[in-house]
Amino acid sequence: MDRIRIVGGNKLNGTIPISGAKNAALPLMIASLLTDETLILDNVPRLADVAQLQRILGNHGLDIMSKGKRPGDHEYQGQTLHISAANIIDTTAPYELVSKMRASFWVIAPLLARMHVAKVSLPGGCAIGTRPVDLLIMALEKLGAELQIDGGYVIAKAPGGLTGAEIDFPKVTVSGTHVALMAATLAKGTTVITNAACEPEIVDVADCLNKMGAKISGAGTPRIEIEGVKKLHGARHTVLPDRIEAGTYAMAVAMTGGDVQLAGARPELLQSALDVLTEAGATITPNNEGIRVTRNGAGISPVKVTTAPFPGFPTDLQAQLMALMACAKGSSHITETIFENRFMHVQELARFGARISLDGETAIIEGIAKLRGAPVMATDLRASVSLVIAALAAEGETTVNRVYHLDRGFERLEEKLSACGATIERISG
Ligand code: EPZ
Repeated sequence: MDRIRIVGGNKLNGTIPISGAKNAALPLMIASLLTDETLILDNVPRLADVAQLQRILGNHGLDIMSKGKRPGDHEYQGQTLHISAANIIDTTAPYELVSKMRASFWVIAPLLARMHVAKVSLPGGCAIGTRPVDLLIMALEKLGAELQIDGGYVIAKAPGGLTGAEIDFPKVTVSGTHVALMAATLAKGTTVITNAACEPEIVDVADCLNKMGAKISGAGTPRIEIEGVKKLHGARHTVLPDRIEAGTYAMAVAMTGGDVQLAGARPELLQSALDVLTEAGATITPNNEGIRVTRNGAGISPVKVTTAPFPGFPTDLQAQLMALMACAKGSSHITETIFENRFMHVQELARFGARISLDGETAIIEGIAKLRGAPVMATDLRASVSLVIAALAAEGETTVNRVYHLDRGFERLEEKLSACGATIERISG
C-alpha cells in the first residue's frame, strides 16, 4: 500500500495546474447512459474514482475510449473520453462495484429514464456518514418509477417510462439533484425541482445535457425546470476546473507561505473559500490564467466558519481549513453541518501536535506556532489531504499512510507540490 513521505518547512512557489473536477466528471460520465450516441468529455481528471466508474460503465456494456494528450497540450491536460452507450447489455450495477465508488449509484437515473428498468446495489455508508439515498428514491418515485429494496439492491422499473413531476427536496442534496435532473430529461412532460443544489457541478452537468438536446433551465438556482424530450444525442463537453482541488492548494500555500499561481482555477467557483483565506491572511489575486495565492510573513489569522451548500463554505474544504487553522494566531471555530461524521482528521492532526477539541458539530482549534511531523493515517478523501497540508508546514518528517484515499480525488498531488518546492515523495509498497 503506497504511502507519502513529506519533510516540512519549504515554502511553495510556482504554478499548480488545476485538473477537471472529479465531482463533475463522475455525473457527466453517467449522463452518457442517456443516449445511444457518443458523448465526448474533455479535461477528465486521471483519478481512481474515474477509473472505477469506467469499469462500472463498461459492465453495462458501454464502450469507452480514452485518448491521450493531443500535440500541443500543456503538461497536465486532462484525458479525453469517448463514451458510447449504444448497447446497454446489463441494467444491473453490482454491489462489488458500487460499494467501491458511491456516486455510481446515480446510474439508476439514466438506466430508468432510457431502459425503464434498473437494479442497482445500495451504496452503503462511508467514513463520513451514513450517506442515505432516501431522497434519490423519493425523486424517482415522484417521476413515476416503482422502486423496492431487496437483498441490498434497489430494484426499479418504469414500464411506460418516467413522467414529469414537481420534486421538492426537504434538504439540499447534490446527489438527489443530479439524479432528478438526469431522469427528468427523458420523462414525458415537465419536471420542476425545488430546493435544488446549486453547486457548479450541477450547472456543468446541465450545460452538457442541454448540448445533448435536453431542455433544462434554472440550473445553479434552487428551482430547475426540465421539459422532457424523446431522445438525447451525442455531444462534446469540457469538464469544469476542480474548485475543491483549487481550494486545497490555496490552503496549502496559506499554510507554508509562498507564491503560487493556480492555473485554470475559476474564482467564482470557490469565492466563499477565497474570502475565508483572505480573512486568514492570504492574498488572493484572480487573473486571466487563474488565481494567484500568496502568504508572506504576516502569519495566519484565526477564523470562524460553518460549512454550507454552495455558495457557502464547502464541506469538502473543511478538513483542509482545519489543518491551516492549527497554526493560526488564536482560536478558530469550524462547524460541519453537511455530514454527521466528518471530523476523523481531528485525531490525526492531533498527532502533529495540533490542539483541537470538539463540541458537537463544532471543532475549536487553538493555533500553535509549529506542528511536528509524525506518521499518520488517511481516513477519507479530503481528510487525507488535510494531513498533507499539515505535513508541508510541520517540522521534520511525516509519512501519510493509506494514500489510496488521496488518489481518489487529487491527480498527481506529489508531482504538483514538488514542482513548487515541497519535499514530498511517494513510497510504493
Ligand atoms: C456530493 O456528495 C459530493 N460527491 C461530496 O463530495 C460532497 O461532500 C457533497 O456532495 C456535499 O457537497 C460527489 O459529488 C460525487 P449530498 P452527495 O447528497 O451527493 C444527506 C468528495 O469528497 N442525504 O449533497 O452524496 C447526506 O447524508 C465528496 O468529493 C440524505 O439524507 O452529498 C448529507 O448529510 C464527499 N438523503 C447531505 O444530505 C439522500 O437521499 C448532503 O448530501 C441524499 C443525501
